[in-house]
Amino acid sequence: MRIDLEKLKKEALGLISGVKDAKALEDLRIKYLGRTNGELTKLMKSLPKMSLADRRKFGPLLNSLKRELEAALENKLAALKAQSSKLKASIDITMPGKKVSLGHLHPLTMVEKEIREIFTALNFSIVEGPEVESEYYNFDALNIPKDHPAREMWDTFWLRQNEQLTNNKKQLTKSEKLKVNSSKLLLRTHTSPVQIRYMETHQPPFQIIVPGRVFRYEATDVSHETNFHQVEGLMVGKDINLANFKFVIGEFFKRLFKKNVVIRLRPSYFPFVEPGLEVDVKCVRCGGKGCGLCKESGWLEVMGAGMVHPKVFEAAGYNPRDFRGFAFGLGLERIAMIKYNIPDIRLFYSGDLRFIKQF
Ligand code: PHE
Repeated sequence: MRIDLEKLKKEALGLISGVKDAKALEDLRIKYLGRTNGELTKLMKSLPKMSLADRRKFGPLLNSLKRELEAALENKLAALKAQSSKLKASIDITMPGKKVSLGHLHPLTMVEKEIREIFTALNFSIVEGPEVESEYYNFDALNIPKDHPAREMWDTFWLRQNEQLTNNKKQLTKSEKLKVNSSKLLLRTHTSPVQIRYMETHQPPFQIIVPGRVFRYEATDVSHETNFHQVEGLMVGKDINLANFKFVIGEFFKRLFKKNVVIRLRPSYFPFVEPGLEVDVKCVRCGGKGCGLCKESGWLEVMGAGMVHPKVFEAAGYNPRDFRGFAFGLGLERIAMIKYNIPDIRLFYSGDLRFIKQF
């Protein structure tokens, strides 16, 4: 019997040394040493059928070849493993890593924060009030009586629970009716009610700002939202006047827009101030020449303001002869839109990350 063991050995060792991965190595193991069809296994299974002389000759040879192949397979496997962990260790740590995207403050939050900081530096305190407000604080105490046409300046979300209460009022006594009426609830249409709330519990002199969310029952468009934010201002003392107002507000806008701003006061009307004013700043983009931002007018309307009306002091429990003060109210979105050149107020609440991520 003639078997070319030398050839088999050469071929097997050659293949084993050329193998690139563990799977291919395992295939080779099966090819030669597989329990049923391995080439070497088959040879060993044929030993009992050989002549005694052949058995004596091939038995030891086959055994030693088997051991040799086993050792070669084992070594190769170890080498492959070492190689792959070396690959892992050789990852280039100087390559830029995966970017972790961090969240950040909403543009409105950023502007509000800045406004709080500026007024704090000007010695104003920061005060807040409820978003669900009573008709009394939102209107009556601010010199806006029930049937006054000025109520139409603020389209109001009334709370339904109160509608039911007032609809049932036929069965109520007169004093009960009064109570229900004065506790009629609404979503505040401006931050001005906090003027009354603050003055009810504090004595002048003081100066406060009131940042907060307000609501109006309006159709939305590029400059109107049902839900937006205001910052109310109120400074009261013995002899506060419009010159004080102009200085404070000039200082505020200078710090906010980081440049000198020209301010213009125009007569206007709000029931809770007298005189009432509209404040314009010379367009911070075009400097007054006229551009898209100021709608070619050269001016940006930025807030309503005025000297606190004596009726408001009265409602808060002050003697109007003792004190004077100024009040103002600005729209936070409007300021942010000017500052960041944002074309549509609805973007603030869109939840669109392409918008948010620009800040
Ligand atoms: N509350 C007014 C508004 O929402 C703004 C304002 C505040 C005007 C204070 C004058 C004084 O329109």
